[in-house]
Amino acid sequence: MSGKQKLQHFAEMKEFPHVFEPALEEVFRADYKLKGNWNKDFFKNDNPLVLELACGKGEYSHGMAKIYPERNFIGVDIKGARMWKGAKDSLEEGLKNIAFLRTRIEFIEGCFGENEIDEIWITFPDPQPKDRQEKKRLTGPLFINRYRKFLKPNGKINLKTDNAFFYNFTLEQIEEHGYELEASTDKVYGDFLKEQDSKMQETLQIRTHYEKLFSEKGHPIHYLRFKP
Ligand SMILES: C[S@@+](CC[C@H](N)C(=O)[O-])C[C@H]1O[C@@H](n2cnc3c(N)ncnc32)[C@H](O)[C@@H]1O
Repeated sequence: MSGKQKLQHFAEMKEFPHVFEPALEEVFRADYKLKGNWNKDFFKNDNPLVLELACGKGEYSHGMAKIYPERNFIGVDIKGARMWKGAKDSLEEGLKNIAFLRTRIEFIEGCFGENEIDEIWITFPDPQPKDRQEKKRLTGPLFINRYRKFLKPNGKINLKTDNAFFYNFTLEQIEEHGYELEASTDKVYGDFLKEQDSKMQETLQIRTHYEKLFSEKGHPIHYLRFKP
């Protein structure tokens, strides 16, 4: 993408009614204006609210918003140029149950209130494999403790990744911290998929930009779901 195109996308993002780009001081040790009020003030209904973290171009939020019109979705990422794609597509299609939040996930506690979120999806996160990167892993205890502040008591976290290291790291976290593992597979596109209900089958077959890149390299796709 050229620099000029990027600037144009950034300008469009500022005008999109369903894109929120809080300044650092609005979320860092602060409560964002929509914290606790996303449904009341933005979606204008009481439907379950689902977050997609590290959403990139937002394929999961966008895909699930169509599969589950009775749920609301918010895609979260720090990279606006990627997010533009999901934001643009969903706006053009007139979807009313999707929003995008451009922020660092480190500041997510400032954005959502207690019991506000029903479910989380984490799609192809950076695996952060080096020891010194451990604290940056999105399923590490630092992040899970942040999510627990706004996830409902029975709320679930879904992870889809090609990365065996990250998948196994998350399984270890589940075991170590006593989270409840509901489902796991290191090959989502096989018998596991056939055992799911039709909507979940459709959901698991949404393919993100990074999934396509990794699949072309022959990486099997892993999936797991747990209650933290
Ligand atoms: C490998 S990409 C995956 C994107 C998308 N889910 C996909 O599958 O195509 C990882 C994404 O995580 C985002 N990301 C990584 N760390 C982040 C953080 N701390 N806060 C917000 N976004 C982050 C990056 O900007 C990037 O878009």
